[in-house]
Amino acid sequence: MPTPERRTTKPIGVALLGLGNVGGGVVKLLRDNAAAIEARLGAQIEVRAIVVRDPDKADRVIEIDRALLTTDLDAAIARPDIGIVCELIGGTTDAKHVVLAALAAGKHVVTANKALLAEHWAEVFGAAERAGADLYYEAAVCGGVPIIRALREGLASDRVEALHGIVNGTSNYILSTMAASRRPFTDILREAQALGYAEADPRLDIGGGDAAHKLAVLANLCFGTTVDVAAIATDGIDAIEPIDLDYAERFGYVIKPLAIARDHGGAIEARVHPALVPASWLLARVAGAKNAVYVNSYALGPSMYYGAGAGMLPTAMAVVSDMIEIGRNMFARAAGAPRPPARVATPRAMVPLAEIRTRYYLRFGVADQPGVLGQLMTVLGAHGVSIAQVVQDTGRGAEPEEKVTVVVLTHTAREGDVRAALAEIEHLAVVRAPPRVIRIASEGSP
Ligand code: NDP
Ligand code: HSE
Repeated sequence: MPTPERRTTKPIGVALLGLGNVGGGVVKLLRDNAAAIEARLGAQIEVRAIVVRDPDKADRVIEIDRALLTTDLDAAIARPDIGIVCELIGGTTDAKHVVLAALAAGKHVVTANKALLAEHWAEVFGAAERAGADLYYEAAVCGGVPIIRALREGLASDRVEALHGIVNGTSNYILSTMAASRRPFTDILREAQALGYAEADPRLDIGGGDAAHKLAVLANLCFGTTVDVAAIATDGIDAIEPIDLDYAERFGYVIKPLAIARDHGGAIEARVHPALVPASWLLARVAGAKNAVYVNSYALGPSMYYGAGAGMLPTAMAVVSDMIEIGRNMFARAAGAPRPPARVATPRAMVPLAEIRTRYYLRFGVADQPGVLGQLMTVLGAHGVSIAQVVQDTGRGAEPEEKVTVVVLTHTAREGDVRAALAEIEHLAVVRAPPRVIRIASEGSP
């Protein structure tokens, strides 16, 4: 039998903005998987321009054809032979300019930039809608894990009620490595940077800002709203000390960097913070730079999406898959397929942090005196904070003057009540250091 002729159309031209960890991965993947990509799309994807700031260090990540290099972002976007602009420069200034310019010029856009999307969601998606252009962003949340596609397509007929995610690979890598080896925080952060996981400014990772950006994107997608990132209660992992890892383990928990969103019907709850997670939960086993999102939805119930949340090739995989999907859309529209209607975002209120209800791990460094425990319990009780477990150790404090360490696990309490109790406790004469608070993941069993 004669081999059927494989029909391909003309190549799709791409302008690649940024050639760092992810940009380098995109070049490598398009090169290594060129035949499979062409077979799946029915056309080649051809990088026709690569924009960098400094051409002299352009091939530090991967060898490239230097004739493709330019430093002129606007000229690369405007080229008539470019169909897809791929924004991988990061940040929100130049990146916003190039994404809006590309969409205004009728180019389709792929971006991995969660900061840009979270902070300018309505503006960039409005621009895409007006231009009739595609804006895809799978790599922006959880790197290579196809969570955006799962929520947008797999769960298109469902209604998400809550999600618990480990969405920052760097923070998860640091906490898991500290838990396994008790090595110093800064050494492990340096390692995460060398492995290409961290943001250009790693304070975004360890301070929780990157996870808040991702949570805003997820919440916008799941709940049809536009979340104000500044309204997401955000704590980083930088305050976690080895002593907290020890106590967590002793109580049967693991400390994980969580991003949590919940639809309360009227208002949305959204928060990012390290949390004690029961060691038996699936999320407790997500280690290293791996990410996972545990979703509770009305029809499907619980489902979990897991994989590499950062790094060169996993992230590039998500970017190139977006290019393939855009290519398919381009061919479908050329054949007369209609564009799906825009999703309408309805502004939703956010649940104030003081009103959230969860369980708490509280660590106190106190003087070695009779009646200290009683004083702590009295204040907590007066604020309606009920105790589930307590341990008291002598000579175990993080600082020498903390002669006695008391660790309390509470039952579910209102955040505002816990904070009011702690403010009072901090002023007791027997308390030697500000109390440490870590929330406990306590609802459902992610
Ligand atoms: P890098 O810092 O490794 O690379 C950024 C690249 O963009 C560099 O080549 C840089 O050039 C270039 N660049 C920055 N600004 C400009 C500009 N104004 N004009 C031209 N080139 C510019 O970052 P990553 O590749 O790690 O990240 C890229 C994006 O992907 C970010 O938005 C990040 O949040 C996101 N992301 C990253 C993941 C990862 O695992 N690393 C995972 C998921 C998303 P130069 O080196 O000369 O400064
Ligand atoms: N810096 C990010 C992380 C990269 O560590 O998760 C992936 O978005």
